This record gives sequence, C-alpha cells and structure tokens, in this order.
Amino acid sequence: MKRVLSGIQPSGDLHLGNYFGMMSRMIKYQEENDLFCFIVNYHALTTIKDKDLLASNTLNAAMDFIALGLDPDRSTFWIQSDVPQVCESTWLLSNIVNVGLLDRATSYKDKLARGMSANVGLYSYPILMASDILLFGGEIVPVGKDQKQHLEMTRDIAIRFNQTFGEVFVIPEPDIDQTTQLVPGIDGQKMSKSYGNMIPIFGSEKLIRNQFMSIVTDSAGIDEPKDTNTPLFQLYCLFLNETGRKELADRFASPGLRYGDVKKELFECFWNQFEPFRKKRDYLSNHKDFVLEKLKMGSEKAGSVAEIYLKKAREAMGLNYGESSV
Ligand code: ADP
Ligand code: TRP
Repeated sequence: MKRVLSGIQPSGDLHLGNYFGMMSRMIKYQEENDLFCFIVNYHALTTIKDKDLLASNTLNAAMDFIALGLDPDRSTFWIQSDVPQVCESTWLLSNIVNVGLLDRATSYKDKLARGMSANVGLYSYPILMASDILLFGGEIVPVGKDQKQHLEMTRDIAIRFNQTFGEVFVIPEPDIDQTTQLVPGIDGQKMSKSYGNMIPIFGSEKLIRNQFMSIVTDSAGIDEPKDTNTPLFQLYCLFLNETGRKELADRFASPGLRYGDVKKELFECFWNQFEPFRKKRDYLSNHKDFVLEKLKMGSEKAGSVAEIYLKKAREAMGLNYGESSV
C-alpha cells in the first residue's frame, strides 16, 4: 500500500482536464492505497484576491471531488489551510532552495508572460508545493504533464534536504498517465481554468452543451477522411475504451461523418456518464455541514502526519535548542 498524494487549486470551476488528468485517477487509487488529497487554497491565494470567491471556490472544489467519488472516510481529504504546518515547513525548505531553481520554473515564467504581476507567493509556489508533498510522506503523486517540473523540483529539494540534514523526507515519484496527461481544451490548447477553453465538470446543461458544440474543427468536407490528431477526437477518446476508440478512428477515416453529429453524441455521452455525479453534487450542496465535518476529520488526520515530519525536520535542522549538548 503506497501513500498516493495530490492537490488541486480552487482557482475556478473544475474541468475535464482536471478530472481525467488527476481527479479520476486519484479516485481509482483510493481503492488500494493510502490516499491523501487536498484543496490547495494557499496556492490559490497567489492569484485570487477576493475573499468570498476563494472561500466559495474552496468548498465547491471539495464538494466536486466528493461528488465524483472521493471517499472522505476511506481517504484523508482536507483543505490545505486547515493544516498550517505546511507554511512552517515551506520556510524550512526555503533555506535550501537556490533562487536559480525557482527562476527556471516554467509555470511561473508562463504566468509572467501572460501579464500576471510577480508576487513573492507566486515565485515561491514550488516550495509550498514541495512542502505539501514532503510533509505528508507522499510517495506517488498523480498529476498532469504541466506539473512535471514542479515534481522534479520537489525531488531535488527532498534530496538536498536529506543530504544536508540527514534522512527526513521520502523522495516522491510523479505519476503521469500517457493518455490523459494533456487534455485539450475546446480550442486545441491545453484545457485550463485560465485559458477560457474549458468544459466544466459541473454546470448548466446549456453552457456545457455550448462548450462541446464549440470544439474547434477543420474544414474537411463530409466525404473526406477526418484528422484524428484533433481536440474533438482526443476528447471523445477519453470516454471510450480501446474498442470504442478503434471504432471512432474508423468512423473518422470513412466518408459521411459530420462534425456536428459527433459533437452532439459526445455531449450526450458526457452528460449521461456524469448524471450520478450531478445528483450527488446537488445532494452535497444541500448538506454542507456533512462536507465540513468530513473536512475537519481529514485535517485532523493530515495534521497528525504533518506533525511527525515537521518534528523530524526541526530536530534535523537544530531548532530544538533545548536539547543542545554544548
Ligand atoms: P488549471 O491548469 O486548470 O489551473 P490546476 O493547475 O489546478 O488546473 O490542475 C490541477 C490538476 O489537474 C493538476 O494535476 C494538473 O496537472 C491537472 N490538469 C490541469 N489541466 C489539465 C489538462 N488539460 N490535462 C491533464 N491534466 C490537467
Ligand atoms: N501545483 C498544483 C497545480 O497547480 C497543485 C498542487 C499544490 C499540488 N500542491 C500539490 C499537486 C501537491 C500535487 C501535490 O495543479
């Protein structure tokens, strides 16, 4: 049994990229592993400056995860800021991270390139993420491809800490799935909350149908073969098994396929498959106390694990001055 750990930012509505790239995989892992899962609201502070928005996004993300199948009784599920020890360990780790490492972070550079102002939180984001993983002894970290570099940084930080102060932290392994590592948005770029190209997991039927119908396609005529290296084909494949994918590829290769029909079919497929999740999501919206109680229980469990690693790190670094022998 491995400790499988990952987090998600409550920075907007969760989308199919989040679902296939990380959430559904975490939910599968919980069956045979010790799952640690959390909503990273400290990380979201780097971009959200509206208190009501952050608070509601945080609770919504937690309800989404539970509605999709995360079982808070079987797994450890919490809100990042309810275990504030991660902030202390972020400071401890900061002292062994060279600024050069942070300067190379592509996600930070991308955000700057898109005009975001560079606050120190955004800059040190990878250290907080390393702290999230190391403080709970995460062994396997399921993420999408965009988080690969952050995971490499976490490994570097853990190795350097252990070399400098002695063995304290587990060296985590990223877990990136080839078929779901980069779910395209409706415009063909990576689906992302910040690119306006996403299909939300929960939302009104009209809005979601519109998003599916707006998936970009080329101008191939009805009787021409269709390109499968396209967002419509790739998105559809996420809902199909091996045989279904072969059949879809055959349909794309044969004359007579209309993109509009395929989009409608894909929407129906999504809508039916997610029907039970929507029901559960509605139920949770009306039972917030239940959700809050589960989150509290999760933060207590997570907090007790964090305390163990934090104590070891403090001792290893010499912060327990009362035990000094000189
Ligand atoms: P966003 O990019 O929309 O802000 P997050 O950074 O909160 O999403 O990502 C949460 C998790 O979902 C991460 O593990 C991330 O790698 C994964 N993820 C996000 N977008 C995609 C995508 N388009 N394809 C695959 N995985 C994704
Ligand atoms: N940086 C991740 C993202 O944007 C979220 C995250 C924060 C995370 N802490 C983590 C992911 C720890 C895995 C493990 O998606």
